[in-house]
Amino acid sequence: MPKQTWSDRFESALNPIIAEFNASIGFDIELLEYDIRGSIAHAKMLSHTGIISKDEALQLITGLEQILLEYQEGHFNPGIEAEDVHFAVERRLTELVGDAGKKLHTARSRNDQVGTDIRLYLRDRIEEIREQLRGLQQVLLKHAEKNVETMIPGYTHLQRAQPLSLAHHLLAYFQMLQRDWERLGEVYKRTNISPLGCGALAGTTFPIDRHYTASELEFGGLYGNSLDGVSDRDFAIEFLCASSLIMVHLSRLSEELILWASQEFNFITLKDNCSTGSSIMPQKKNPDVPELVRGKTGRVFGHLQGMLVLMKGLPLAYNKDLQEDKEALFDGVKTVQGCLGAMTVLLREGLEFNRDRLMSSVDEDFSNATDVADYLATKGVPFREAYNLVGKAVKTSLAAGKLLKELTLEEWKALHPKFEEDIYQAIAPQQVVAARNSYGGTGFEQVRNAIKEAKVQLLEGHST
Ligand code: ARG
Repeated sequence: MPKQTWSDRFESALNPIIAEFNASIGFDIELLEYDIRGSIAHAKMLSHTGIISKDEALQLITGLEQILLEYQEGHFNPGIEAEDVHFAVERRLTELVGDAGKKLHTARSRNDQVGTDIRLYLRDRIEEIREQLRGLQQVLLKHAEKNVETMIPGYTHLQRAQPLSLAHHLLAYFQMLQRDWERLGEVYKRTNISPLGCGALAGTTFPIDRHYTASELEFGGLYGNSLDGVSDRDFAIEFLCASSLIMVHLSRLSEELILWASQEFNFITLKDNCSTGSSIMPQKKNPDVPELVRGKTGRVFGHLQGMLVLMKGLPLAYNKDLQEDKEALFDGVKTVQGCLGAMTVLLREGLEFNRDRLMSSVDEDFSNATDVADYLATKGVPFREAYNLVGKAVKTSLAAGKLLKELTLEEWKALHPKFEEDIYQAIAPQQVVAARNSYGGTGFEQVRNAIKEAKVQLLEGHST
């Protein structure tokens, strides 16, 4: 095994099992592009401050760009002897540009370097995920626009409660994703801070210019405390927390889609392009996408938990434990991106709402019972009294095998003299939904307003 970068202080080579155990190159190669960008900014700063010559900086930058090209073309594949992406790049740079390469690490430590890399990486991923959230919101909004007047049973305790506009139901998810989008914007702000120049832990003796590198890398600010700068992973935890909430929302939506696709509900039909068959039961069409999303949710929660536990006992400043942050973060990112991508396709082109079934299902239950009570309450009967009367009506209807709409006016009047012919209109599903016209309610007028508001929310996204 070739000599380690730090090996002059050591008498013997690293045990190969330990070398393998210690190495992060297997996964942190993912940071290569960001490591190079950070190094280019650092090299520019070194020459800007006169710590190295312009010519040396130029050699470093040309070499670093060359390595990026080699990587993109698939020719840069460092093995575990490189230990990590930072050493791998530095070693290759020295091969390419000779002694100048050995100057790159002046006034820098891998500790502030790796902190810079993961922030640059995460910044980009946050932007991509926010775009994906926008994409999914748009698909939900499209369905909502087409389904203001489509009705769906609304549930509490998974018991039929009150009928809803299907658009209202879908817009609930739109709003969850809106908060996710906003939350990630906050996480972005705290990710977008430069630790570069914090050194190993205490800063550096060289006359560096941290503002210069921060602005080169388009960071919004820089850490004011070097110890904090090299050991902070709050932003990664916050990201995994925001991601966990995205996954909660996707998982709840998944659960509903799975239920709705069942024969029992039959509210949606999955199209062939987004579902799979069974190897033994020829009649089946399985909702694999939402099931996988629901399943993958646990991974992201796990990474959040893992990162919290990773951090809780660490003394300042850098500890090797922190190397463990990457796989959690990378897998968290991939999982959220994969799930958002698949859910967007599923909702855009992989399912259709069974409108007839949805419309008939709101007409076959007792979910208009509250409206009977409201009807009496509007006519002066105290609500609790009205509620008890309707309870009785439900009981007698059930016993007679009837729905409320099938009671005769005589039967209604026997229950309370205030019932009139207009009770039938009041309990028709269309009216039951329309009547819930309080702000934020499912009334069609409210839902149309909510769609307008949602469009404005999407526009806001484009300006920030
Ligand atoms: N591969 C290391 C990591 O990911 C880089 C930082 C190493 N720093 C050190 N002091 N050993 O955390």
